[in-house]
Amino acid sequence: MFKDTVPGFERVFKTDTDSPKVVLVTGPPGSLKTSFCYDIMTKFLRNSEDFGVYLTLEEEKQSQIKNIKDLGVDLVKNMHISDITDLREIDEIIEEEDTDYVEFIEDLLRNFREEKGEKFTIFSLDSLGALYSLMEDRENMRKRMFSFFKLLRDLNLYCFVVMERIPGSEANLLGDEGFLVDGVINLGIDRKRGKLTRYIQIEKMRGCHHGMEKHALEVSDNGLKVLGPLFE
Ligand SMILES: Nc1ncnc2c1ncn2[C@@H]1O[C@H](COP(=O)(O)OP(=O)(O)O)[C@@H](O)[C@H]1O
Ligand SMILES: [Mg+2]
Repeated sequence: MFKDTVPGFERVFKTDTDSPKVVLVTGPPGSLKTSFCYDIMTKFLRNSEDFGVYLTLEEEKQSQIKNIKDLGVDLVKNMHISDITDLREIDEIIEEEDTDYVEFIEDLLRNFREEKGEKFTIFSLDSLGALYSLMEDRENMRKRMFSFFKLLRDLNLYCFVVMERIPGSEANLLGDEGFLVDGVINLGIDRKRGKLTRYIQIEKMRGCHHGMEKHALEVSDNGLKVLGPLFE
């Protein structure tokens, strides 16, 4: 699916990957998680008839769009960007006391499936941490994430789920995410001799042959670019 999106991907992915998949995109702030998901989605959608949804819970649509233009990535018509306002609109219609944002997201996705049919193939959620902090009722969160990820797969979607992560820690917030997903892509910032280098490292990707090294990740004139391996 993504072979021809980001230049240099062939350095890390030896074979291509197919849907349905739920892939965690983890890393500290500024490690290009948001840029990565955007870049890969827009480049994939630009050359296809498919339809994608990018849900940002971290900032408003407008500021998100501006950031992405600054990155040199052009928007595409077949990608819909939703933000928290869109979810809150559903909320007002329902007028429920307990706002179950996971359920809203599920409804949003089902609506797009109904509207776009099988063309709706790709979805990003930015971010899981923001979703958790919106949830007042966090009971049974693990169970709900399990069924949320199941729905994503049942809809046959390829999904990127962004999750902030402290360097050196595991890809889990509730303790389970890393196990529940099909893939974990770690984006990081390497500090050496006063220099910062961003990198990408595939920790897990079911059904795909991939390298395990850290590869430098850079912002080029038109989006991201994967460069050579980092040496310790
Ligand atoms: N045009 C650009 N050229 C180089 N770096 C950029 C450009 N636009 C954004 N960045 C870098 O991208 C970073 C933000 O990336 P972002 O994808 O928002 O990270 P994350 O989502 O992991 O917090 C900024 O800190 C900045 O360093
Ligand atoms: Mg971000």
